[in-house]
Amino acid sequence: MDNVTVFDHPMITHKLTHLRDKNTGSKQFRDLVSEISMLMAYEVTRDLKLEEVEIETPMEKTKSKVLAGKKIAIIPILRAGLGMVDGMLNILPAAKVGHIGLYRDPETLEPVEYYCKLPSDIADRDILVLDPMLATGGSASAAIQYLKNKGAKTIKLVNIIAAPEGVKLIHDAHPDVPIFVAGLDEKLNNHGYILPGLGDAGDRLFGTK
Ligand code: PRP
Ligand code: URA
Repeated sequence: MDNVTVFDHPMITHKLTHLRDKNTGSKQFRDLVSEISMLMAYEVTRDLKLEEVEIETPMEKTKSKVLAGKKIAIIPILRAGLGMVDGMLNILPAAKVGHIGLYRDPETLEPVEYYCKLPSDIADRDILVLDPMLATGGSASAAIQYLKNKGAKTIKLVNIIAAPEGVKLIHDAHPDVPIFVAGLDEKLNNHGYILPGLGDAGDRLFGTK
């Protein structure tokens, strides 16, 4: 599908393999989510606009380029999206961080909203929505709709693993939102979990069950 970019960089693939492994404990899982997010940040920001400025090196005056244009907001979907924030902020230290709290009802698989706090100028920012898992797509779609209702215009969705079902739902509901993933998996099981996936991202990050 043309709304999804899969990063096939060897460093990302290597780290994703360890992330999937059920023998990877919470500390290493958190570190890997953070490292993969940082590597993904490079590619996700590839289209940022630059503008020319004049500077002086120790040798002479010269023209060079710095980032121009709109500012960035990163919006983790709670809980699991929190694991991606530090890695992204390493590359985008000036970004503001908003939070959208959603959990997936285990019976209906529908997203339930419980907390939202956004930067006041959200409508003027380029937005990166973060969530390690895109399964049915219900949570990400609800978060994107919430942001659009607040005036957001430029949104990218960044997931570590996506299922084709979730990619399709976002494509149909939000064709203007590109998706960036480290791995595009095979399918969902009957409980809406991604196969082969990595299990429950929130539980593995925070050691809950
Ligand atoms: C997980 C994951 C996504 C959602 C994906 O969160 O982090 O937010 O499920 O599923 P979907 O695409 O079918 O909506 P969960 O609801 O388990 O909450 P948590 O992060 O608090 O554990
Ligand atoms: N949420 C998760 O954490 N993992 C899945 O596989 C699906 C939804």
